[in-house]
Amino acid sequence: MKYFLILFCEICLALMAGKGFGQPQFIHPGARWLDDRGLPIQAHGGGVIQLGDTFYWFGEDRSRENDPTKRYASCYSSRDLTQWRFCNQVLVLTNVENLQLGWVLERPKVFYNPVTKKYVMYFHLDGVLPGEKGSYKFARLGVATCDSVDGNYTYLKSFRPLGHESRDIGQFIDDDGTPYLISEDRPNGFHIYKLSDDYLSVARDVCLVPRHFEGGAIVHYGGLYYFIGSHLTGWNPNPNQYAQAKSLAGPWSDFKDIAPESNDTFGSQSTMLFKVAGTRSTTVIFMADIWKPRAQWDSRYFWMPLEIGGGKLYLPPPHPWLIDISSGVTKILSP
Ligand code: GAL
Repeated sequence: MKYFLILFCEICLALMAGKGFGQPQFIHPGARWLDDRGLPIQAHGGGVIQLGDTFYWFGEDRSRENDPTKRYASCYSSRDLTQWRFCNQVLVLTNVENLQLGWVLERPKVFYNPVTKKYVMYFHLDGVLPGEKGSYKFARLGVATCDSVDGNYTYLKSFRPLGHESRDIGQFIDDDGTPYLISEDRPNGFHIYKLSDDYLSVARDVCLVPRHFEGGAIVHYGGLYYFIGSHLTGWNPNPNQYAQAKSLAGPWSDFKDIAPESNDTFGSQSTMLFKVAGTRSTTVIFMADIWKPRAQWDSRYFWMPLEIGGGKLYLPPPHPWLIDISSGVTKILSP
């Protein structure tokens, strides 16, 4: 009975949003999310960019059948942020930096440079060099480029931005198109770096916030910048927090929980804040990962629209929801 009620509500809401029947219009936070091939989307620790009327979602591809000596990033495209078409395993990386077994490529993010017409992918490249002990010692940015959004990206280099350690990265493109990288620097805190004109390196450190956050994400909304990040608990969830500022350079406010502390962000970890500016409403989507460290190929996605404005922000509990891209209006299915 409950199932039929939910189905009925889904159909009504889909009709209200002007969509056709029978299409899986709802985003179900935490559920297995299938692509056009019927396979679970592999875009973990990812980021979404919009080019024209198409969205591209990049992220870690942790498919079980991947070659265990390589690391992968994949790209998917969509016009509605809900139904995704697999485009390509855009980066298939061999161990280019002579790291020990267990090296990682994490949190790939792609920027389009309209001047050079290049697509530039940044990712966290890590591991340990021969003779070293521990893990995550390399702490560098990796860079790969391509002439088309979903073509085969070519590895270019790795580096430490302005000499600083860099682990989790986040992507922020301001409303005027200026590209920024958020980077976790274990000794110091997190940086907001502006990219160079060719996007191939970091031009300057816009702000160093002396607080430790991973999964850093920023959005510009209603004249304020909002930052969300997660505490340093590895794959385990924790209460993600936010701060706000009038300028990216700060000062940033105190950090507060985005949801009741005991929920541990509903088991998820931030990866991006994505703004959909429609004709009727502007929606900010909290994009996050629900990690399954022992079955990474089955890690899930947690996307929910935020309640945001006036310097405050709140992540509602997960329920199926839909978004109409042109109006920007969202509807959350009430429990
Ligand atoms: C998380 C981080 C992930 C991954 C993981 C490894 O905190 O956000 O991207 O690096 O740690 O334990």
